[in-house]
Parts: sequence; structure tokens; C-alpha cells
Amino acid sequence: MSYLKNYDVLIIGSGGAGLSLALKLADHAASVAVLSKFALTSSSTYYAQGGISAVFDADDSIESHIEDTLDAGAGLCDPEIVRITVAKGKNSIEWLREQGVIFTEEQSRSGESQLHLNREGGHSHRRVVHSADATGKAVSLSLIERAKLHSNIELHENHSVVELITIPTDDNISKQVVGAYVLDSTVNQVKTIAARIVVLATGGANMAYIYSTNPHSSTGDGIALAWRAGCRVSNMEFMQFHPTCLYHPEARTFLISEALRGEGGRLILPDGSSFMQNFDPRGELAPRDIVARAIDHEMKKRGIDCVYLDISHKSKDFICEHFPTIYQQCLEYDIDITRQPIPVVPAAHYTCGGVLTDSYARTDIKNLYAVGEVACTGLHGANRMASNSLLECLVFADRASEDIVKKLPAIRPFFNIKDWDESKVSDSDEEVVVSHNWNELRHFMWDYVGIVRTNKRLSRAMSRVELLKKEIAEYYGNFRVTSDLLELRNLVIVAELIIRCAQQRKESRGLHYTLDYPEMDNSKPAQNTVLEP
Ligand code: FAD
Ligand code: SIN
Repeated sequence: MSYLKNYDVLIIGSGGAGLSLALKLADHAASVAVLSKFALTSSSTYYAQGGISAVFDADDSIESHIEDTLDAGAGLCDPEIVRITVAKGKNSIEWLREQGVIFTEEQSRSGESQLHLNREGGHSHRRVVHSADATGKAVSLSLIERAKLHSNIELHENHSVVELITIPTDDNISKQVVGAYVLDSTVNQVKTIAARIVVLATGGANMAYIYSTNPHSSTGDGIALAWRAGCRVSNMEFMQFHPTCLYHPEARTFLISEALRGEGGRLILPDGSSFMQNFDPRGELAPRDIVARAIDHEMKKRGIDCVYLDISHKSKDFICEHFPTIYQQCLEYDIDITRQPIPVVPAAHYTCGGVLTDSYARTDIKNLYAVGEVACTGLHGANRMASNSLLECLVFADRASEDIVKKLPAIRPFFNIKDWDESKVSDSDEEVVVSHNWNELRHFMWDYVGIVRTNKRLSRAMSRVELLKKEIAEYYGNFRVTSDLLELRNLVIVAELIIRCAQQRKESRGLHYTLDYPEMDNSKPAQNTVLEP
């Protein structure tokens, strides 16, 4: 038997959710392992721009933050979960400051230093705490640095989970997790890890679309792993498209933060006219689903490749102080945002659905937790409000750690795990199959399961998924696993889950918009979509 090691807690993912949880557990568990598919910073967390929502402004209130979140969620948020999360905003920011995160401050009227608050879509107040326009980088680097200092935490880069290992529970009624098979890409070997608790903190599934704001790591692995292991998955039809991603032939997808619109950035057409007022009285600061759909509508109606976001009416000093990363990045593509509008298009950004969890991040499988974007806690409903995601990562890491610390002493380690069997597979001689299928899947998901859907488009996409699934299963059965193959195998499952959820929803609500049922169905109470394995 060749265990890489036996841990108390195995955390899969080194983003905001995984690292926060590791730090919260480190004084209570003897050994915590954090795995990352690629580098530790290869996470959506690292790229987060706008910030973290929390009530600090004297005119703001928890009630108002709750109300805005419920409103954006279009009738599907769980009010109790919203309250639990929003109430912990201030504590979460304080905790991050204790970990060394430095947030942007300003002078108050009385001359004291206070947090500067951004404003973003759907928020009725300024309530987004940030580190200029690179909040995620500040959070990610501080948490990594802290985790490296802790002797109970081991960090493993280039370790990709292939499959969770489960056994029947003592009563034989359900399952419990006891570890995972993990591909160590540095030596191309699948290792076996035993753990008393396993936590999925693998982020979203936004690489299911050809245009995405996310890093390469967001391939929905945790959702697919949980689904194959027997967990329920919910609300996958609610894929969020961020309205403003830089449009440039040479640019890798780069986000233009909603905070630009919060500071007065206007969306305009090529002739300079604005259009958002025709779609929502909140204009540029309407929730994301509305803004992304409005842009999509204008682009299709006019046959244009992009719209523009203009902040050039603000002073150069203001722009460079508040948006230094965006300013520099655009300049690299010869776009001076202090003088000219930025070409933008929508792109897949956030997965509102995911592995169904309770209010302590527990899944359907004993000792398996899901925290962060991989989970569907009930916070976001049919549409996540801007900057509520990092908050969710922090709050649910805290709640999961509370539960794990209580539970850990009673869980016996389980050693009787079979090693990964590679005796029937060989090295692939046709890797082009994987890259071709990756591209095909991401294209048809964009074309058929994107911002505007129809029954016909969904069934076209489903037929392609079924063919791909067969081809990938055959390939997986015959060849040694690689990181790309694992991701493709997971993405095709996630694509299927998105399409199945979308097909079940016979109405338009939040992020799910279909021309076949363009209205919200208010004839019965709003319902989450839940898929049983
Ligand atoms: P991630 O940060 O994505 O981390 C996932 C981790 O899991 C990674 O380390 C990855 O390598 C690892 N992983 C995945 N699969 C495997 C596997 N099979 N094996 C091993 N490891 C695996 N939200 C906000 O609240 N405010 C913002 O300002 C904001 N801005 C954003 C800007 C951008 C460009 C993007 C992309 C997102 C933004 N979001 C923002 C959303 C937010 O950043 C994410 O929802 C949040 O960071 C998710 O954190 P996470 O820890 O759940 O996942
Ligand atoms: C942004 O800065 O626009 C992203 C914020 C978010 O996704 O919450």
C-alpha cells in the first residue's frame, strides 16, 4: 500500500475557501493538507477585483444587504442562509486583516482613516471592501503566506484529485468519504490519500464556456467528483455571465470590474449613446443578469462585436488610484482608459449552483464538505450579487471548521483503501482527441446554453454531450489519466448537469433566460432545481 500520507483533513483547493478553512482548522487538527491542481495562486480568488461585501457605512444596514441579496436572487435565496452570511461580513473582514490583508482606506470627514467602500450592481449602498482593483491577489497572497507558516498545514501544488474514495457507512444506508485518488502531475503518478474529513473547495465550472473570466482551474471538478460519489447537485442552470470582460483579439479574457460602473462608468454603443436606461431604472448598476442580457441584446440586434465602457470623464489620478491593474492591463493593449472607452463583452463568470450543502457546508456524503463556489448553499438563489462570493467563502469556511472541530475526535482513520489500478491502461497516442473535445464542448455550451436559451438549443447541446460522454468514457477506460483528460471528463458531466437543470426550469428567472418561457412563473412558489444522482 503506498499512501502519499494520511491526513486528518484533506482540503481540495487553494482558493479563498480552502485556505481560510485550513487556517481556521490548523490549531485543532494535527494534519491538514491543501491540494491545488496547478500553482497555489491558480484560483478565481487570486483574480477577484471588486472586493468583499460587508456593512461598514453608517447609513447602511444588515437588513439592507439582506434585502439586496434576496432581490438579486430572484426569489430563490434561502433567507436564513442570507442572514447568517451577511451578519458575518464585518467579522470576516476583521479576520482577513488579522491574516495580513491590507484593504484600501480613505480619510473620514473627521480625519480618521476608514475603509474605502466600492459600489457594485444590485447594492443599494457602498459596501464593497477592497484592495484597489486587485482584492483577490491581496487575499490569496496573505492566506498562502500564513498557511506556509503553519506547521500543521501541508500545501501541495500540481495535485489534481481524480476521484473521491467512499465506503458504506456503518449502518450500510449511505456513504462516507475516506480519502481521494490524486494525480501528482510532477511525476505523473496517481497517489492514494486517506483522510478523516475531505473538503471540496474546488471553485466553479465556468471553463465550460469558451469565453470566461476564470482561470484555467475552474472546470467544475468538485461538482463532478461529488456527483459521481453520490451527492445531490442544485441550481446549475444559474451560470452567471459578467457583463464586462475586455474585448481584444490578443487579450486573454480579462475582467473589467463592476466597480468601474460603481464609480460612474457608462456603457455605450459604438456611436457613443448609452442604452442601459432602456432596460432597467438602475441603469449600469442593475444586477448582472439584466446588464449582461442587455449587452447581448444590443450586440445581436446591431450585429456588433462588443459594446464600450467609458470612465474617461474621471480624472487620470482618480482612475490610476482606484483601478491601477485595469489601467495597466488595458494600456498593454493600447487602450488608455483615461482617454477612451474600453471595448467589452459578457463572459462566463460564476457558478451559482453546485453541490447541495446545509448551513455547515455538509454534503449528502458523511464527512464530505463543500465550501465556496463549488457549493450551493442557498445564498445566491437565481443570481449572485456582486462581491457576495468571497464573503460566502469566508463565512462557510468558518462554519465548516466549527463543525469539523466538533466531529473530528470521533472519526476513526480508515486505512483499508485499495491503491489506484493502472494495470489495464496505456499512455495515450491521440491527445488531440482531448483538446478537440475540450474546444467543441466549450463552443456549443456558449452557443446553445449561454445568456439566452431555447428548448431546441438545449436539446442540441444535450445530444452533443451524450456523444462526448461516450467518447470520453472510452478514452478514460483505455489511457493513463492526465490533468487535461480529468478536466474534460469533469467538464462534460458539469455541462450535462447545467443542461438538465436548464431543461427542468420552464420559466425565465434570474440568470436562466429562455425564449420559450420568457416570463417568471409566479403561479406557484419559486423552486430550486435539485438533481438526484
Ligand atoms: P477558487 O478560488 O477558484 O479556488 C479553487 C481551487 O481549487 C484552486 O486552487 C484550484 O486549483 C483547485 N482545484 C480545482 N479542481 C481541483 C482538483 N481536481 N484537484 C485539486 N485542486 C483543484 N467574487 C467576489 O466576491 N468579489 C470579487 O471582486 C470577485 N471578482 C472576481 C473576478 C474574477 C476575474 C473572477 C474569476 C471571479 C471573481 N469573483 C469575485 C468570484 C470569486 O473570486 C470566486 O467565486 C471565489 O474566489 C471562489 O473561491 P473558491 O475558493 O471557492 O475557489
Ligand atoms: C467585479 O469586480 O466586477 C467582480 C465582482 C464579483 O464577481 O463579485
